Amino acid sequence: MKEKYRSQNWFGKTGKDGFIYRAWMKNQGIPTHEFDGRPVIGICNTFSELTPCNAHFRELAESVKRGVSEAGGFPVEFPVMSLGETLIKPTAMLFRNLASMDVEESIRANPVDGVVLLCGCDKTTPSLVMGACSVNIPTIVVSGGPMLTGKYEGRDISTSDVWRFNDAVRAGEMTQEDLTVAEACMCRSRGHCAVMGTASTMACMVESLGLTLPHNAAIPAADSRRKVLAQLSGSRIVQMVRENITPSSILTREAFENAIVVNAAIGGSTNFIIHLLAIAARIGVTLELSDFDKLSTTVPLLANLQPSGKYFMEDLYYAGGLPAVMKELDKFLHGNCVTANGNTLKQNYDEAISYNREIIAPVDIPFNPLSGVAVLKGNLCEHGAVIKPSAASLHLMKHTGKAVVFEDIEDFKARIDDENLDVDANSILVLKNVGPIGYPGMPEVGNMSIPKKLLRAGVTDMIRISDGRMSGTGFGTVILHASPEAATGGNFAVIEDGDLITLDVSNRSITLNVSDEELDKRKRVWKPRHKVYTRGYVQLYQRHVQQAHLGADMDFLVGSSGSEVTRDSH
Ligand code: FES
Ligand code: MG
Repeated sequence: MKEKYRSQNWFGKTGKDGFIYRAWMKNQGIPTHEFDGRPVIGICNTFSELTPCNAHFRELAESVKRGVSEAGGFPVEFPVMSLGETLIKPTAMLFRNLASMDVEESIRANPVDGVVLLCGCDKTTPSLVMGACSVNIPTIVVSGGPMLTGKYEGRDISTSDVWRFNDAVRAGEMTQEDLTVAEACMCRSRGHCAVMGTASTMACMVESLGLTLPHNAAIPAADSRRKVLAQLSGSRIVQMVRENITPSSILTREAFENAIVVNAAIGGSTNFIIHLLAIAARIGVTLELSDFDKLSTTVPLLANLQPSGKYFMEDLYYAGGLPAVMKELDKFLHGNCVTANGNTLKQNYDEAISYNREIIAPVDIPFNPLSGVAVLKGNLCEHGAVIKPSAASLHLMKHTGKAVVFEDIEDFKARIDDENLDVDANSILVLKNVGPIGYPGMPEVGNMSIPKKLLRAGVTDMIRISDGRMSGTGFGTVILHASPEAATGGNFAVIEDGDLITLDVSNRSITLNVSDEELDKRKRVWKPRHKVYTRGYVQLYQRHVQQAHLGADMDFLVGSSGSEVTRDSH
């Protein structure tokens, strides 16, 4: 007997309800036979002209639809909240959980048997995966693909050049007209940021988790093979519905471990940690901050990609793509994990070839033996903080310095370039109230700029600590995600100017050298200084968001509600 899919609880009905469920769909020109019980595939689209990285998704969705129809499914595209990094204020991260709620409820409430998630810009991947995990019907991810490498005056440029251009204009080396030309050279094709920033990190994450077809991570958005991948994914999801391959059957603890290993080897963004923790909690897999350290310390950096290296996502694809990286990592990976195409992960990477050893280094001659993240603990952040050692300065990995404290982002902006600021190269910059509750939304401001007067003196790096995040393209000895954040009134909240802080990365410790008695005394008179919102989504977020070490998801969104809906709408 043919299996009855959940969509038949709508389209398979007789009487008034069935009439209503089908009749209005028919205004789109859908013939009667398409309601015959075939898999209905939702295409969850984050297309938006306000999310430039995802602005080509209507076309991509058409390719997915061709694949769905080709395999005998019934494609239905629907929009969800789209989060673009470049325009959304105060930070797209504030709305990741909101978008995930939109995704979750849109999938559950509608007659879909499987779903294709069209993801691109940073937050669009985790929000869609989180939402889909909380429903747990068959799901495949299609990323939009990276932009082509930027070209300006004969050289390669990327989003990281924004800061350099800005400095060049300030120094009079570049005119405003040059800058306008450079703008068009940098983002010269469809797609998301072309380096191993957060968007590319997320595209690699879903591929290494097994939620995509092979090569999802690196095929450029403008490459015709991106559309081929979309079409094949559309065909494949129909089969996944027939085989009932759900996110929970792919996303095992081992799959998460694979993603952590791969992220280390590609020099992925620190934002990966927050998003992966949130996804694990949705699907019910135990994952802790310390796992990221434990699993990545022995993994070498293999991919020579900006910001840790030289090349771009486009180059990674031509060099063999993520499967070629995973093939090098074979001894670190659980090759037997099931993936979306029904093969094991190892079957997907086993035949891969690295065509360019300068871009994908062999595991025994790595591009850098250091990779991954170190998780720091101490009285400064009882629940941990993270640092990316490969992006940090060796001479600062063990260091004691005096804190120069900024109480919030406005305080930082007002004083950082003050010639009278009491700061030197040994100081440790501390930025408070940029955490989930404090900002709110935990923005990417953790890689604070170095005081101008120190820059002039030739200082290029110093220790910076915050309860915020940094951009996937960020660099430096930057300690992020300090938890609990300042807004909750813990030790981080009461650090004062001049306090001595000791960082010891090899011991994984960060210590505030102030006695417990003194800290308690300060806490008794501490007053929160962050704005508390009283209406709308932001008040809900501030009341329910969890700390960074738990993935900054809302407490009530952890776990899954399944796909069942018991009542009809009429
Ligand atoms: Fe969208 Fe970088 S701004 S990926
Ligand atoms: Mg980013």
